[in-house]
Amino acid sequence: MNEPTHLVTLLDWEPDRIRRALRLAAELKALARAGRLLPTLQRKTLALLFEKASMRTRVSFEVAMTQLGGSVTYLSRADVDLGVREPVKDGARALSRYVDGIAARVRSHDTVRELARFATVPVINALSDLAHPCQALGDILTVQEHLEEPDEARIVFIGDANNVSRSLAVICAKLGLDLTVACPPGYSFDDEFLRRVEALCPSTGGAVRVTSSLDEAVGGAHALYTDVWVSMGQEEEAEERRRAFAEFQVNAELLSRAAEDAIVMHCLPAHRGEEITDEVIEGPHSVVFDQAENRLHAERALLQMLLGADASG
Ligand code: CP
Ligand code: NVA
Repeated sequence: MNEPTHLVTLLDWEPDRIRRALRLAAELKALARAGRLLPTLQRKTLALLFEKASMRTRVSFEVAMTQLGGSVTYLSRADVDLGVREPVKDGARALSRYVDGIAARVRSHDTVRELARFATVPVINALSDLAHPCQALGDILTVQEHLEEPDEARIVFIGDANNVSRSLAVICAKLGLDLTVACPPGYSFDDEFLRRVEALCPSTGGAVRVTSSLDEAVGGAHALYTDVWVSMGQEEEAEERRRAFAEFQVNAELLSRAAEDAIVMHCLPAHRGEEITDEVIEGPHSVVFDQAENRLHAERALLQMLLGADASG
């Protein structure tokens, strides 16, 4: 039996495979709009193993599987409690005997790595503390749709060096895109991750830089992206983080410093009045709901690539 292709982090994926996923996402989006999707995943089942809350990721995976003729089974932490009720490696191997793929949202990145190590079916990271690769695929699909010259765009992420911005940094480095992350001192990527991402750039033509200067980051930006200051699992640091990030809000004044037709992105859920103002997220530059929709199109492509009959990744 062939080894399954997993998506634990986009660091493991070659640029060509990422590009193929994005192309397929756009093709399947067009087919879906024309009502011409084929049931390529008939009789296939995806397990959704979720240790944390989710709306977009859960629903988009469920809908994508259903539209392609397959089905899902949802397992919350109360159902499985991997690592506590049984070792992750036992859960991975047993689950692999029932289902054709596992999408896992986990508290610790190690859990999704361990799942992928032992599962005999594809494992997709549906968010961990360190990565949100499905989000990054939907994000770049959105950039490609909304910007006239996506390959030349200056993408700026304002906020925490978290799972969302890490995956954005990886996909930008892999695809030769230009990303600046603006964050307060002390909330940047760890050195090892940053070195790894920077090392990808010379061969792809991409650039990933981190700054604590909003002035430096925002001038002329074509896309301004933000995410919550307090991610799931960081609730105890909430007050400290709100203080540290107070200046790093995407608001009308900040947006006025970006390119005239800049788009505003957010992975959602958003905390209005914290990382983004109500005015900006509701304003004409905001593409956040197109971005949310593109999760469905990106995941449909992923599922077809990883679980489909000709699954080769
Ligand atoms: N953006 C995102 O992953 O949303 P959910 O947490 O609702 O799945
Ligand atoms: N950084 C956020 C993303 C939610 C989709 C979190 O991990 O909570």
